[in-house]
Amino acid sequence: MCVPLPSGTSGAVPVTNSNRGMEVEYTGDVTRHEPTLEVRRYYEKILPFYEKEKESIARSHLDFWRSLARDWRPGWILDIGAGLGRITSALARHAPTIGTDISMEMLRCAVRHLPPQSRAHFVAADMRRAALAWRFDLIIASSDPFCHLTTATDRRKALRAVADQLSERGHFVLEGLYRRREIFEPPPRRVRHAGGVLSINERWQPVGSRQLWHARYRYRDRPSMGGESELEASFIARAWEPADIRVFFASCGLSIEKLWGDFDRRPFRIGAKRLVAVARRLDR
Ligand SMILES: C[S@@+](CC[C@H](N)C(=O)[O-])C[C@H]1O[C@@H](n2cnc3c(N)ncnc32)[C@H](O)[C@@H]1O
Repeated sequence: MCVPLPSGTSGAVPVTNSNRGMEVEYTGDVTRHEPTLEVRRYYEKILPFYEKEKESIARSHLDFWRSLARDWRPGWILDIGAGLGRITSALARHAPTIGTDISMEMLRCAVRHLPPQSRAHFVAADMRRAALAWRFDLIIASSDPFCHLTTATDRRKALRAVADQLSERGHFVLEGLYRRREIFEPPPRRVRHAGGVLSINERWQPVGSRQLWHARYRYRDRPSMGGESELEASFIARAWEPADIRVFFASCGLSIEKLWGDFDRRPFRIGAKRLVAVARRLDR
């Protein structure tokens, strides 16, 4: 890690190669606000499986995120809800990149997998607050970390924090959770990893009326040596409503310039594979 972290990381904990082996505590800032505890517990529970799931990330996904950095040539990049940091690490090949997350366990794994001389840094911070006194030219949120913020109040806080940390020429790109309101249960996925094969079965069921979902994941790991292991875990997620996402962003100081339906940048249509929003600061 050759690039110093920007100043003003108060309320956040830098996670670095030098402290990853130590018992790093969360600051009061990360622990005080709920619902982070539940979310952190969820990721802590699934981590041994999630790490294997994320060993391979589709080339088309990585190409998409890297193409943004190639097109816009940002000076600094912020990856919020960075998880295991695969995308943070790829983006750091283009510009110094900071990945933030509330899960210290995930961040420790992220640091462990960084290549030498990487320009990626990791900081434990809650995305509902602008923890870094710095402006970024590109802020990304991949695989929708916002889905864990299930109230409009929390989502507004997080979007306002994005607006506060975005430079005048900056772009914010959200890969938002989008589901049609019906049970979603894709065929089980099989992921080959270094030590065997992982099967993943997911089921998403709508609950209530505010784009809330009960998401259930079942993992079964079949290592090439040793016994099988299984895990079931679930969480409540909130998807985005395409009809009001522009107004919602605007109420937080962000203007959506493009709404894409997939990583190939096709326009978003109802029933699209995904929802990718590209936003800028409203007060430019
Ligand atoms: C689905 S994972 C996505 C990880 C990564 N962006 C990726 O594409 O693989 C969502 C991440 O958001 C993080 N997260 C959830 N709530 C958060 C919050 N309030 N502040 C920061 N990170 C949060 C979780 O810990 C988790 O790592």
